[in-house]
Amino acid sequence: MTSSALKPDSPLLQPVTAGALQAPNRIWMAPLTRNRADADGTPNALQAEYYGQRAGAGVIITEGSQPSAVGQGYPRTPGVHTDAQQQGWQRIAEAVHAGGGRVVLQLMHVGRISHTSTIGGETPVAPSAVRAAGEVYTPAGPQAFSEPRELATDELPGVVAEYVDAAQRAVAAGLDGVELHAANGYLLHQFLADGVNRRTDQYGGSAENRARFVVDVATAVSAAIGADRVGIRISPAHPFNDISEIDVSVYEALTTQLAELNLAYLHVLAAPGDPIIAKLRAIWPGTFVLNTGFGVESDRDQLERLVADGVADAVTVGRPFLANPDLVRRWTEGTELNEPDQDTFYAGDAKGYTDYPALP
Ligand SMILES: Cc1cc2nc3c(=O)[nH]c(=O)nc-3n(C[C@H](O)[C@H](O)[C@H](O)COP(=O)(O)O)c2cc1C
Repeated sequence: MTSSALKPDSPLLQPVTAGALQAPNRIWMAPLTRNRADADGTPNALQAEYYGQRAGAGVIITEGSQPSAVGQGYPRTPGVHTDAQQQGWQRIAEAVHAGGGRVVLQLMHVGRISHTSTIGGETPVAPSAVRAAGEVYTPAGPQAFSEPRELATDELPGVVAEYVDAAQRAVAAGLDGVELHAANGYLLHQFLADGVNRRTDQYGGSAENRARFVVDVATAVSAAIGADRVGIRISPAHPFNDISEIDVSVYEALTTQLAELNLAYLHVLAAPGDPIIAKLRAIWPGTFVLNTGFGVESDRDQLERLVADGVADAVTVGRPFLANPDLVRRWTEGTELNEPDQDTFYAGDAKGYTDYPALP
């Protein structure tokens, strides 16, 4: 697809501040799991090259990365809970900064979206012992999700501490901050969702109770590394990973409480026109970042309109960034785009990863 060049005063090309992040443009790279870390979750030189190639993004949000061994859901996703992993992230931070970019690490604890064989025989943990329908890719191929065990109330501070430790490691590695993944059916989303969270303690039941664990994590991580380095991603009512949510008022309760923390940004995954976007935007006092969802691949002209209309301050782009390391330049100039190759999305080597060509 070739389109016209963006005008220099396009809202997508204007700088935006998000806490401690000073982004030179509003075209940010969405988090993208690519399953190319070393087998022990250590980020490697190939990943550093991949992220370095994409330094032109306003901000890069990394692939979801587990804050603990039990928080891993898929083979070869990176971790951020060992010294070796922290060193691997340092290489990535250096590569992005060398290219003039900014990068935050997405903290993704998958909760029940896992299988015992992926996590060394451990049982996945979740707000409630409710197995997700469907299958997950494991080292031995696709298998049914394992039944998780319910986290006891007195275990929750330990899980919060894992997030804190991982966030501190991310910052110590030189990354510019973290994004808490509270979307797409993973652990934090499982707490929010009334169809999955069946708890009877103060972390289940009412919308305020279901929001409590996410608020606990955001509060503790903010205290540890500074709220201006902490963003959060949510996907209200997104059914991915067998989530069912009837009472989405939890997102208003959550956003109202998070607003007091002064986080760097709120990142919402929702289809344009979903009334929840305007509702949350009205509550959120800070930088509001939108991703238009999986249904249709992000479209430059639609994103430009959304920012022009004030629906969002910045947007994140997944598949077009995956296939175009120099996406910001291509969108600015209106030049031809590389097409993403789905076969190499979730595994493999340099093919379909670092070999998408940049413009000369
Ligand atoms: C290969 C792939 C991996 C993804 N991995 C993540 C992830 O790790 N964390 C996350 O929050 N979203 C993840 N997503 C969702 C994207 O961030 C984004 O919301 C989605 O691709 C829709 O945006 P797009 O139309 O610009 O691609 C992934 C999507 C794709 C295609």
